[in-house]
Amino acid sequence: MSTVLRNIGMLVTQDDDLGTLTDAALVLDGGRVAWVGPTAAAPDADTAVDASGRAVIPGFVDSHNHLVFAGDRSAEFAARMAGTPYAAGGIRTTVAATRAAGDDALRARLASLVGQAHRQGSTTLEIKSGYGLSVADEARSLRLAREVTPETTFLGAHVVAPGADPAEYLALVTGDMLSACAPHARWIDVFCEEGAFDGDASRAVLSAGVAAGLVPRVHANQLGPGPGVQLAVEFGAASADHCTFLTPADVDALASSGTVATLLPGVEFSTRSPYPDARRLLDAGVTVAVATDCNPGSCFTSSIPFCVALAVREMHLTPSEALWAVTRGGAAALRRDDVGRLAPGARADVVLLDAPDPVYLAYRPGVPLIAAVWKDGRPIT
Ligand code: NIG
Ligand code: FE
Repeated sequence: MSTVLRNIGMLVTQDDDLGTLTDAALVLDGGRVAWVGPTAAAPDADTAVDASGRAVIPGFVDSHNHLVFAGDRSAEFAARMAGTPYAAGGIRTTVAATRAAGDDALRARLASLVGQAHRQGSTTLEIKSGYGLSVADEARSLRLAREVTPETTFLGAHVVAPGADPAEYLALVTGDMLSACAPHARWIDVFCEEGAFDGDASRAVLSAGVAAGLVPRVHANQLGPGPGVQLAVEFGAASADHCTFLTPADVDALASSGTVATLLPGVEFSTRSPYPDARRLLDAGVTVAVATDCNPGSCFTSSIPFCVALAVREMHLTPSEALWAVTRGGAAALRRDDVGRLAPGARADVVLLDAPDPVYLAYRPGVPLIAAVWKDGRPIT
C-alpha cells in the first residue's frame, strides 16, 4: 500500500543532500520512502493525505529506554521532590516487582508504554533489560523486548542483584547470564557508576559482551565523574549515555572518537540534577543524541517532544540541533542510517506535526502536536 503526503508546509528530511523543503510531498511505499519533491510534481498513490501546510519530520529515534518492568515508584519520585536525593539502589525495588510479575503482565505493560511512545512520535525504540538480574529474568526481559524492537540491550550489569556477592554476580553476568541473553540482544550495556559497577568490573562486562558478539554502549558519568566515558571510547562504544559529569579529558575523548554522547535531560528534570553541558560537547565536535531514558526510577517520561523542549530550554541546544539529536543523533547512537531521516530508500517512519515548523516542539511545550505517525509506511496513530 502506498501513501502520498501532499501540501507539506515544511518537510525537514534531516538528509544531508535533501535538507528542508517547503511546499513538499512525500511518497511512502513498501515500508520505505519512495519519493520526495515538490507537491506539484508528486505522483499518485493508493492513499492521499493533505498536510494542509503543516510540518513533517522523521519519526523520533529514542535510543535509550528501560521498558520491561513491573511495580510503581511514584512515592520515590514524590520523596525526591521533597528533598531525598536519587540513588541507584531504587533499581532493586523494581527488580523485586519485575521478578514477581508474570509474562503477560510484563508484556501488557510494555505494550502500553510502547503505544505511548508511538503516539508521541517515536518510531524506533531501544529497550534494555536490567530489572531481572537473574539468568531467567534477564533472558525473559530481552525475549519480551525483542517482540517489539530489534534494538535490544543486555543490561544484567545494572546493579548487583539483591543479596548477591559482587564478584560472584559479575561472574554470572559475564558467564551464564550473558550466554542466555546474547541470542536476544544486539547491545551490551553496563551502569558504570559508584554504587553499581566500577571501571574494572565494567571493562569485564563489556569485554565479555563483545566476545559474545554484542556491540557496546555504556551508562556513563550520570551521578558523578568516573571512568565510564573513557571506557566507552576505549571500547569503541556506539554511545556513552547520560554524560552529566564530564571532565575536559572526557569531552576530548568523545570528540576524537566515533562514540555518540546521548543526553537524557528527562533524568535531570526528574532527579533535580544539573543538566549536562551540551554546548560544550557540540562546540568540541561531539555527536550528540537526545533520548528519554524512560524508566520507573530516574525518569518516567516517554515523551521525546518533552525532551526536545528540555534540550532547548535547559541545555541550550538550538531547536534545529535538538531535532537533529532526536532523529539523526538517535540513529547514530544505534548505528542506523535507515531511520532518523527521510530520503528515498529510508524507512517510511514519519511524523506529521500539528504545527507549521518543528520549532513548535520547544515553543509549545506540553501541547499534543503529534498529528499522525507512520511506521514502516503504515499509520500507527
Ligand atoms: O538510566 N542509571 C541507571 N539506570 C536508569 C535508572 C534506573 C532506575 O532508577 O530504576 C537510568 O537512569
Ligand atoms: Fe538508563
